[in-house]
Amino acid sequence: MGAGPALLLLLLAAGAAAGWVPTPETVRPRLVREQVLWVSGGPRGGVHTFRVPLVVAAPGGALLACAEGRKRSAADVGAKIIACRRSADRGATWGPTLVAADDGWGEDGLNLGALLVAGGRVLLLFARCAHPPRPCGPPGTLLLRSRDGGRSWGPPQNLSDVLHGEVFAPGPGSGIQKQRPPFRGRLVFCGHGTPERDGVSLLLSDDGGRRWRRGGVLPAIPFGAPRKPHDFTPDECQPYELPDGSIAVSIRNQAQYRCRCRLLARSPDGGESLPPAAVTVQPALPDPAVAAGAAVTRGLLLFSNPAHESLRVNLTLRWSFDNGSTWWGRGLRVWEGPSGYSALAVPPPEEQDHTPLVYLIYEKGRSLSTESVSLATISLAGDL
Ligand SMILES: *[C@@H]1O[C@H](CO)[C@@H](O)[C@H](O)[C@H]1NC(C)=O
Ligand SMILES: *[C@@H]1O[C@H](CO)[C@@H](O)[C@H](O)[C@H]1NC(C)=O
Ligand SMILES: *[C@@H]1O[C@H](CO)[C@@H](O)[C@H](O)[C@H]1NC(C)=O
Repeated sequence: MGAGPALLLLLLAAGAAAGWVPTPETVRPRLVREQVLWVSGGPRGGVHTFRVPLVVAAPGGALLACAEGRKRSAADVGAKIIACRRSADRGATWGPTLVAADDGWGEDGLNLGALLVAGGRVLLLFARCAHPPRPCGPPGTLLLRSRDGGRSWGPPQNLSDVLHGEVFAPGPGSGIQKQRPPFRGRLVFCGHGTPERDGVSLLLSDDGGRRWRRGGVLPAIPFGAPRKPHDFTPDECQPYELPDGSIAVSIRNQAQYRCRCRLLARSPDGGESLPPAAVTVQPALPDPAVAAGAAVTRGLLLFSNPAHESLRVNLTLRWSFDNGSTWWGRGLRVWEGPSGYSALAVPPPEEQDHTPLVYLIYEKGRSLSTESVSLATISLAGDL
C-alpha cells in the first residue's frame, strides 16, 4: 500500500517529462554533470592515450561508453584495446574499465568504431588493419554483440566479405535503428575508407543485425587518387534519422571541399542510396575536420563538435528545431579548451518519460585534446 503515493509521484513526474515538447521556450540546455571516464598516460594497463570516445543509451537507464586505448603512442596506427565502462543509473556512477577487444602488440590493430543498441543487444562495430599498406593483414570490419549491456561480448563476426575487402572504418559514433518508414526497424551504420579510397558508405541490416549488406555509397572525387586540398573527400560520418524518415549523415569534410565546415548527405530511401545531388555543405557548422556527434530526440536535432574552422577547441552543443535548416543561437559551449572527437547519445524513444537528457562524450584537455575522455550530461530542459 505504501507504494501508492510514490507511484503517483512517479506517474506525475513521468507525465510532466512525457509531455515535454522541445520549443525555443522549453529548450535550455544546461550541463548538469561532467565525469572524466579515462585519463591518458595513467596507470591503467599501460595505455598511452585514450581517444575516439563513443556512448550509447540502453533501455532502463543503462549507458555504455567505449574508447580506443592506444597502448604505445597517440598515433592512429598501433596496438590498442577497446576500453568500455558501464553505468546502470543514467550516468550517476560508472563501473570499472572492461576490455572488449585487444589486438595484442601488432603494427596496426583496431580502430573504433560505432555502437548501437537494438533488440536488447549492444552492437560494437570496429575496423582492423584499416591503414594499408602496413604489415597488419587484410583490412577487416568486425562486429561484437553483447546480451548483457557490454559486460561480455560474443565472438566477432567478420564482415569483410560483405564489404568486398574494402576498408570500412565505422563512425566514429553510433549506428541508428530506423524509427519510421521506409524500412522501419532497419539498422544502419555509416563508415569511411582509406585516404586514397575514401568516401562514406552505409551498412544495413533488416534482421536485427544478423546479416548485413552494403547500402548507399558516396565516394570521394577523384576516387583512388592521392588527395589534394579541396577535393571532395567525405570521411568520418554520423547518421541520424529525420522526421520524414530520410537518413541524414553529418560528414567530416577532410579536404575542406568548399568550406571549413561539415558536409551533409541525405538518403531518401532508407539508406539504399546516398545521392550526390542531395549533398550540401554546412557553413553554419564550422568544423576543423573531426568526428562530430549528431542525434535526434523528440524531433529536436542535436550536434556536437569543436566549433572552430581549424582548431580543435570550444566543444559546443548545438540544436535545431527545423531538421537542421537553421541552428539555435550560439549553442552551449561545453569546454572552451582543447577538445576533439565527440559523440552524442539520447535515451531510447520508449524512455521519454524521463527528464530530457543528452550524453556528450568527448576528447578533452588543458593543453592537448587527447589528455582525457570526458562525459558531459546535459539536461535539455535546464534542470534535472
Ligand atoms: C576477415 O575475413 C577476411 C576474408 O575472409 C580475411 O581475409 C580476414 O583475415 C578476416 N579478418 C579477421 C580479423 O578475422
Ligand atoms: C571559443 O568561443 C568563444 C565564444 O564563442 C569565443 O569568444 C572564443 O574566441 C572561442 N575560442 C577560440 C580559440 O576560437
Ligand atoms: C521537419 O520535417 C518534418 C517531416 O518532414 C516536417 O513535418 C517539419 O515541418 C519539418 N520542420 C521544419 C521546421 O522544417
